[in-house]
Amino acid sequence: MHRLLLLLRSNWISATGAVVTTLAFMLFLTTFVYLSLHGGGHTAYAGLLTFVVLPGLFVAGLVAIPIGLLLYRRQLQERMAALELRPIRLLRVVGVLTAVNLAVAGTGGYEALHYMDSQEFCGTLCHDVMSPTFNAYVDSPHARVACVECHIGDGATWFIKSKLSGLRQVAAVLLDSYERPIPTPVHNLRPARDTCEQCHWPGHFSGDRLLVKERFADDDEVTPETTVLMMKTGGVHRDGKARGIHWHASPGLEITYLASDGHRQEIPWVRVVDQDGRERVFTSESYDPENPPAGEPRRMDCVDCHNQPSHAFQDPADALDQAIADGRIPRELAGIRRVSMEVLRERWGRDDVADGMQRALASRYPGSDEILVGRTAAALSEIWLRNNYPDMAITWGTYPSMASHQGCMRCHDGEHLDDEGEEISMDCESCHVMLAERERDPNILEQLGIQGDR
Ligand code: HEC
Ligand code: HEC
Ligand code: HEC
Ligand code: HEC
Ligand code: HEC
Repeated sequence: MHRLLLLLRSNWISATGAVVTTLAFMLFLTTFVYLSLHGGGHTAYAGLLTFVVLPGLFVAGLVAIPIGLLLYRRQLQERMAALELRPIRLLRVVGVLTAVNLAVAGTGGYEALHYMDSQEFCGTLCHDVMSPTFNAYVDSPHARVACVECHIGDGATWFIKSKLSGLRQVAAVLLDSYERPIPTPVHNLRPARDTCEQCHWPGHFSGDRLLVKERFADDDEVTPETTVLMMKTGGVHRDGKARGIHWHASPGLEITYLASDGHRQEIPWVRVVDQDGRERVFTSESYDPENPPAGEPRRMDCVDCHNQPSHAFQDPADALDQAIADGRIPRELAGIRRVSMEVLRERWGRDDVADGMQRALASRYPGSDEILVGRTAAALSEIWLRNNYPDMAITWGTYPSMASHQGCMRCHDGEHLDDEGEEISMDCESCHVMLAERERDPNILEQLGIQGDR
């Protein structure tokens, strides 16, 4: 063994490599044991050090050893001769050490990949850039679905693509050259067939969904106005035919469209090819066949409607009505919805919003119960903080949801006609049946046995 050490010391490159590898190995073991004992509660930086930096140093050191030996092979030969070392013994030692090293490098590499797939790595490491997304994500129906399930999916090709694009993103963060807000739609997103449909397959969702929207008026009484819709969500039925809203995502059907803007908001050309190969093309007046919008037609998938399936930012009216419905914002304060809406839309900074809202509400409700006003201000600033990040240029409406009238009316606006002059339907009832529209205590809820608690 001590002869091997002599060899390693035969040149400075191998010597440094050996020291770096040994230190990295010992540090890796220590932090790995420490992190394992302390469960999942460590910071992203500790993870980066343990699972990426240390294994990286370990491998770099290992690689340096043979490079040094090769570059300085004359010294090596002299020493070998001087030591009269028997090559067989040396080979055996080198073989054992290499096996140990490969095992450690393999574990390190595996842990590094695993770590880079974690929500913690994606969501919190570059935290200025990602914290808006991450905060929205932990408050979403997909909070337990890893970012990589939607952003990468299975298979080697997308894995490599994602690592390359990740490198570009790291460079953009280091050079501070990334766009604010992060532009959407994400153009190199993997098609939903390979991601979303691994968990939600079109044959699985069929049927209608009752949607109860508890809204409130801007009057002094903050009158409840409930809308009840039966959404015709649909999907593939037993007879193999698809109906309703999820008809667009039925297997074998292909809807492609051309958008004339980068945000895919203006859609002048839509083509449907059904399961039997029949084709229909719908165009709006702004479509000029001589001069069509640039770019490849996009094949419509889940994400054209569910563009914010996870990490969704809220609409201020939706968030406010939700908070009033849950009682986080008390209806006792006269006209609180109207006032809250104004306060939410004022310009705030993330540091001064809590105090600022407190003062703004106190001045609007002089002499009112201070605890009530304080609670309201706290709830409002929480809503504001959930959706506004001036540093990332994210504010109300930066990332609107397309599973909404805004999204549907890009095509269902009565102005997209096929060759025969037939339009893409605007019939309210093809999408939903209105069971109650802005009613106080709608009868339908009582009939369905859904008790309102107001
Ligand atoms: C359920 C699937 C899903 C999960 C889970 C998910 N994303 Fe996304 N994400 C999407 C989709 C779809 C888009 C594309 C939005 C668009 O093109 O408009 C997107 C877009 C983004 C964007 C662009 C900006 C934006 O808000 O639209 C960022 C940044 C992002 N995701 C980061 C993350 C991070 C970090 C995580 C984990 C903490 C994560 N995502 C988890 C589906 C998901
Ligand atoms: C790893 C599995 C998984 C993947 C991948 C996934 N989802 Fe989901 N999704 C779920 C689960 C589980 C729920 C149900 C959550 C619940 O019931 O609260 C859900 C719920 C939803 C909902 C209903 C949300 C609501 O408010 O009720 C929508 C819409 C949705 N997913 C769309 C998508 C889209 C679009 C994608 C791809 C970009 C996607 N999902 C990818 C597992 C997944
Ligand atoms: C044409 C737009 C559109 C497309 C395309 C689309 N959806 Fe939806 N989806 C909707 C709407 C609208 C709803 C109902 C929203 C609501 O109830 O608030 C919905 C509801 C859902 C729900 C909740 C269903 C329930 O009953 O709880 C899931 C899950 C879902 N979609 C997943 C998907 C997946 C996965 C895809 C792709 C295979 C997809 N959607 C494609 C518009 C669309
Ligand atoms: C890219 C364009 C496009 C967008 C965006 C779009 N649709 Fe459609 N939709 C179509 C086309 C095209 C048809 C077929 C029209 C026809 O056959 O008359 C259709 C048909 C439908 C149908 C009838 C399906 C059936 O049973 O035959 C429903 C319901 C529907 N869309 C709901 C929605 C909803 C809800 C949204 C928004 C969340 C939406 N669509 C967004 C293009 C679009
Ligand atoms: C192409 C499909 C489509 C058509 C056509 C359509 N809607 Fe909708 N509508 C939707 C979707 C999607 C939502 C959003 C559901 C949600 O919030 O999850 C919605 C929501 C609503 C709401 C609830 C608003 C709220 O949030 O309080 C009302 C009211 C409504 N629609 C009325 C109408 C009326 C009236 C018509 C006919 C003039 C109509 N819609 C036509 C798809 C459609």
